[in-house]
Amino acid sequence: MSSATTLVPEPYVWTEPPLGDAKSAPTRFYTDPEVFKAEVEHIHLKTWFFAGRVEEVPSPGDYKALDSIGGPVLLVRGEDGVLRAFANVCRHRASILLEGCGHANNIICPYHAWNYRLDGTLAGAPGMREVPKFEKPPHGLIPIRMEVWEGAIFLNYDDNAPDLTAYLGNLPELLGSHRFGEMVKTWHIEIDVNCNWKLLLENAMETYHTGIVHAATVGAQRSVSFPTSGEWLSIQVQSSRSIAVLGEEPPFPAIEGLNEQARKGTYFTLVAPTTQFACAQDCIWWLAVRPVAVDRSVLSVGGCFPSAYTELPDFESRAAPYYKRWEAVALEDVGILEKQQRGLSSKLSRPGPLSWRDDMVLAMNRWVMARLPAHVVDGMHD
Ligand code: FES
Ligand SMILES: [Fe+2]
Repeated sequence: MSSATTLVPEPYVWTEPPLGDAKSAPTRFYTDPEVFKAEVEHIHLKTWFFAGRVEEVPSPGDYKALDSIGGPVLLVRGEDGVLRAFANVCRHRASILLEGCGHANNIICPYHAWNYRLDGTLAGAPGMREVPKFEKPPHGLIPIRMEVWEGAIFLNYDDNAPDLTAYLGNLPELLGSHRFGEMVKTWHIEIDVNCNWKLLLENAMETYHTGIVHAATVGAQRSVSFPTSGEWLSIQVQSSRSIAVLGEEPPFPAIEGLNEQARKGTYFTLVAPTTQFACAQDCIWWLAVRPVAVDRSVLSVGGCFPSAYTELPDFESRAAPYYKRWEAVALEDVGILEKQQRGLSSKLSRPGPLSWRDDMVLAMNRWVMARLPAHVVDGMHD
């Protein structure tokens, strides 16, 4: 692993149109169910999205059920120690199999008790022996494509999508010295939000709003932007101490071996389209957004610390202020974004001029629009 990154930050990253000509996206980008439908088909079902951390399912039989844009998902670790992802759906008549997190020796459907091994194969189907032509092998759980980067589990519904390594491009170069793979997830919340999924991520990638929306918590921030290769974007909020916690002295020291750039602040990185890793000097937290409808999303916020910290006897009391800050700031953002969604629904709402501090908002708008069919993009402007 290289100790230094060659990624060089700039005050902002801007290609075109010229600064002064760029406008926020048409309101229908955030309010039209047809646009949302096209995003699901052309973006969400074709790209990598974050599903959790490997240490959430550490041992054979451990499982985690979650919802995704493509439906219910089951992550389960097999007897062979291999982590697998399946549609959390029975092959008989489609009941959900497991919910929440837990441990199971086999997976039993709560409806008619078809049961599956941890590797997804069908072990038993009561009463089906009498059914002509019935065979178990074709009726195992349906796998979902999964790849893991540094302990972070990503899923993709598209078997033809580029692999995760290609997708992430040079992201590992920027985040490598944080050694995400040696971290442990210790905290997680989910928040139902009445806004379009893109608003949550656009907000997470700009510091223009922080002095206002977060006046009572993190306050005003300044950031630089990185030109990147791959399907990701990054800014860095400049601060010599961790901003993952409010107040003066962070309870945890800086991560050992952080490179010079990483010591200068917190990277707010978007792995397009729905995953953010915020990487401070002492921890990483994520924002992962699950689009539900054009004006509804679920925001997952989770926190990870180096295992050297989580093993400390007073870890919980030292970590508590981080959890408090993550939740408080997330709720401040949710509050303003729900106002923004209501404003966007006005018949009189019009695209407004963008600031250079909206550089990542523009970059994200363009990333999404580039993946939508031309008639959908043109239709937004009607
Ligand atoms: S739906 Fe699962 S056994 Fe019938
Ligand atoms: Fe914010």
